[in-house]
Amino acid sequence: MVESTGKNACVIGYPIKHSRSPRLHGFWLQHYGIEGCYAAESIAPDALPTFMDSLKNGTLQYCGGNATIPHKEAVLALADHADETAKVLGAANTYWVEDGALHVSNTDTYGFLGNLDEGVPDWDAPKKSGIKTAIVLGAGGASRAIVYGLMTRGFKSIILANRTVKRAHALADHFSELALANDCKIMPHSLLQAEAYLSQADLLVNTTSLGMVGQDDLVFSLKSIPITTVVTDIVYTPLETDLLKEARANGNRTVDGLGMLLHQAVPGFEKWFGVRPEVTDALRNHVLQDL
Ligand code: ATR
Repeated sequence: MVESTGKNACVIGYPIKHSRSPRLHGFWLQHYGIEGCYAAESIAPDALPTFMDSLKNGTLQYCGGNATIPHKEAVLALADHADETAKVLGAANTYWVEDGALHVSNTDTYGFLGNLDEGVPDWDAPKKSGIKTAIVLGAGGASRAIVYGLMTRGFKSIILANRTVKRAHALADHFSELALANDCKIMPHSLLQAEAYLSQADLLVNTTSLGMVGQDDLVFSLKSIPITTVVTDIVYTPLETDLLKEARANGNRTVDGLGMLLHQAVPGFEKWFGVRPEVTDALRNHVLQDL
């Protein structure tokens, strides 16, 4: 535990060494002149309930923080109050203690949408040609947050493509009621099958780890991509993935994944430290220096 005379927050994970959150929140603490600290705590899964109890009874002086792998589902299960997004996604990445109760939220959807709003402000504008269509590659936790976000922004057709098609079906099933209520069709496919829908796509999102340094390449042909399709990737190492590079070379508008990390951090910081922080180039450069 890192002591400060102000408020303290921390990211919990297992392992936690590679988290970028301390650098990110540390920048804001300094920028806004807030006395406090943001630490990283390695918490084994079986130690999580005791850790949360210590926050609730004040034994540990953290007012809240972020949760990452493998704690996102468990933190939600331990919560006294969960916000709508955390409940819908079945996972939480942000927590805080208020009057001895554990509150949780999930800000991944907010981060994804905020990043696109900043990068391509009209990315979700109504289409004269008809319904808004997105192709989402991947069907893991990040995909879940993104598919939900797309439904909230009026996308009515979501091609959900995954190596393991069964997992894409499971995610579509998870959202079946919500999709129906939003008049949205979520269509599970393999990665290869999804290429056939590219000519209709207003948005293409990679939510898989493919294309990341040290991982396999993403194999997805952009041959039939319309010039109007916005392309984004949640991978941010490298900052410009091969997918983004190819799309940019083709003339498409692209948004890199670093902004999602930065934007998802905004609501938590405000909750813990009382200041709504701004995502700026200075913050971006500060985090970039350590990627
Ligand atoms: P996250 O919570 O970050 O989304 P995840 O739940 O582990 O992480 O999901 C990772 C995603 O990347 C999945 O869609 C996964 O596909 P599978 O469901 O088939 O595993 C995808 N992925 C990871 N490695 C892959 C690879 N080598 N080829 C294709 N897809 C891959």
